[in-house]
Amino acid sequence: MHHTPFILVTGGAGYIGSHTVAALLSTTNYRILSVDNYSNSTPDTYSRIEQATGKKPEYLQADLADAAQVEELFRNYPGITGIIHFAAYKSVPESVHKPVEYYRNNMNSLLNVLEAGAAHGVKQFIFSSSCSIYGNISTLPVNENTTPATAESPYAYTKVLGERVLSDFAASGTALKSVALRYFNPVGAWPGGLLGELPNQRPNNLVPMITQTAIGKIAEMKVFGNDYPTRDGTCIRDYIHVCDIAEAHVLALNHLMNTPQAPAYDVFNLGSGSGVTVLEAIETFEKVSHQKLTYTIAPRRAGDVTAIYSDSRKALEILQWKPLRSIEEMMHSAWQWECRLAGKMAV
Ligand code: NAD
Ligand code: WQD
Repeated sequence: MHHTPFILVTGGAGYIGSHTVAALLSTTNYRILSVDNYSNSTPDTYSRIEQATGKKPEYLQADLADAAQVEELFRNYPGITGIIHFAAYKSVPESVHKPVEYYRNNMNSLLNVLEAGAAHGVKQFIFSSSCSIYGNISTLPVNENTTPATAESPYAYTKVLGERVLSDFAASGTALKSVALRYFNPVGAWPGGLLGELPNQRPNNLVPMITQTAIGKIAEMKVFGNDYPTRDGTCIRDYIHVCDIAEAHVLALNHLMNTPQAPAYDVFNLGSGSGVTVLEAIETFEKVSHQKLTYTIAPRRAGDVTAIYSDSRKALEILQWKPLRSIEEMMHSAWQWECRLAGKMAV
């Protein structure tokens, strides 16, 4: 007998979570429950998801780092079959200043959701990991067999530990199977800018910095270092459209549901496979938005690696996942989102 899958999305009001909820609602008939404590988002996201897809997920406010709240959630929503676990704190610099908060929130929420989920019959678990687990690596591109260097921040270490928890749990003989997805640099927004990234504080990531500078929220932005050994002296990263990332979650979930021989734990890189410099990213933004960006060259930012990009062939082979959207689409949709937030029309 087949039941409709019932998927718990933790952190579903956040940036990547909301795009994934929207992808699930628009491409599947699964029952979707988003649980979030709105520490870095607001419930307004659900109305935006409805505007984007015509559907709203079920949703609930809870702190997943609190075991009692997680237990109550599974009691009140019986029949959850799969979990996509986004809920975490994600700022690298903040984690350096607040390591205990980061370890507590990111580890407790994972442990609570995993343990209660397995106890309540959950069979598929997808975990948000990060390219930051590779640390300061020099062999490029990185694939899943590349031996990671040391994680450079408490944030990155919560992902190293999270992956380890899942692989140890898988080896313990549980019926729950898990996949860790290592995102490179997710950017961009839902077509038309209907969903996007809403940083609560001043952003530290490049693309929100670019769009907020262009709209005038920030007076001027800095390019951190132009003396790196790269083609134009600025750092190289692997930017990947958030909608491509969202679709990978749907594929990973379906893969676990439909592949009895899938290993109990597996890990995939999610990147575009090609590197873009900071100046190339800025030029692309200027081209697609018809905006001139005000920036200055500043000293290198502590902790930045020169270059990192992904070999994502494993995700193609096993999940049939292929990133479909260009850097132009990433920048254009990010700009549309910024303009929509400001109540302006994008060009
Ligand atoms: P986000 O902050 O927009 O979303 C995370 C959501 O989780 C937020 O809505 C927040 O309110 C919620 N949350 C946090 N702690 C919670 C708790 N204890 N209980 C309930 N809800 C809680 O971040 P995002 O960019 O969407 O990232 C999603 C996941 O992907 C995170 O695990 C992050 O570490 C990981 N990741 C993000 C990136 C990136 O560049 N954005 C890259 C690699 C990995
Ligand atoms: C990109 C490039 C900066 C801001 C981080 C995390 C990683 C993952 C993705 C979560 C770098 C340059 C940036 C600015 C700049 N997140 N830059 N001026 O550091 O590659 O990765 O987000 O898991 O773990 O570490 O992303 O967007 O901060 O920076 O010149 O104002 O843009 O130096 O070269 P990063 P980023």
